[in-house]
Amino acid sequence: MSNDIQYPDHFITRLHSIWGEGFMSPGGPEEVGEIVRDLDLGSKTVLDIGFGTGGPAIELAKKHQAGKVIGIDVEPQLRERALANIEQSGVSDRIDLRIVEPGPLPFADESFDVVFSKDSMAHIEDKQALFLEVKRVLKSGGVFVASDWLSGSGEVAVAALNEFRDVCHLVLPMATAAETENMLLDAGFENTSARDRNEWYAPLCVAEVERIEGPLRDQLINEVGIEIYDHWLKVRTALAKATTVGGLRPTHLRAYKPGSSTM
Ligand SMILES: C[S@@+](CC[C@H](N)C(=O)[O-])C[C@H]1O[C@@H](n2cnc3c(N)ncnc32)[C@H](O)[C@@H]1O
Repeated sequence: MSNDIQYPDHFITRLHSIWGEGFMSPGGPEEVGEIVRDLDLGSKTVLDIGFGTGGPAIELAKKHQAGKVIGIDVEPQLRERALANIEQSGVSDRIDLRIVEPGPLPFADESFDVVFSKDSMAHIEDKQALFLEVKRVLKSGGVFVASDWLSGSGEVAVAALNEFRDVCHLVLPMATAAETENMLLDAGFENTSARDRNEWYAPLCVAEVERIEGPLRDQLINEVGIEIYDHWLKVRTALAKATTVGGLRPTHLRAYKPGSSTM
């Protein structure tokens, strides 16, 4: 991805207005819970790829009792906002945040029991290289759990997804579920799964547009100005259409590094 800032303050303000403070992706604490469901994170060391403004890392440490969460992200301005949220969480002693360069993960082999990521990998072009790196830094038997924005297939779905990408400023080199699972298997993971969340998110995404047009309108215009508001409504309307026709498919991924289980 480029080094340009994709998440300026006014964008974060808009995302927090629909998804809650600390969350730059849909679903809040419940969706983090869904991603790690049935896993015991107690005392485990977790890497969070794309910490955003800290909401998911706080959930992993506080509710799911992770022993240590190391978060990485590529946009320096996010760290300050994330740290402010983490300060108030009561678990700041168990969360470390680092700004890194895109590319190889700056950690020794077998550093983590769990690698987690929420809706961040859609930004990463070379997913195969990322998955190899995730496997390298996982302990033997460790687990990779993530939510990612994947692309659907079929003419109508792909056209709607492209319309969204045309109006949205984000760089989103997305893959389908089949492509993603194949890349995970090629990287040497086993017991992979992809759980489609489109059915959950499509109606919610439509409801988000209604909130932006309705109860949130005045507050948003006040905070970011009419021009940014108008453009965002267009982007969000295109996103709602892309999810409704199945072009954009939030998906929960899980994959295990072979070996005796640490989980
Ligand atoms: C949609 S936000 C999600 C943030 C957070 N995970 C959440 O759910 O609230 C995507 C995040 O991925 C980060 N990101 C983009 N490219 C990245 C990379 N190569 N490595 C780590 N983080 C990256 C962005 O800066 C941003 O914080």
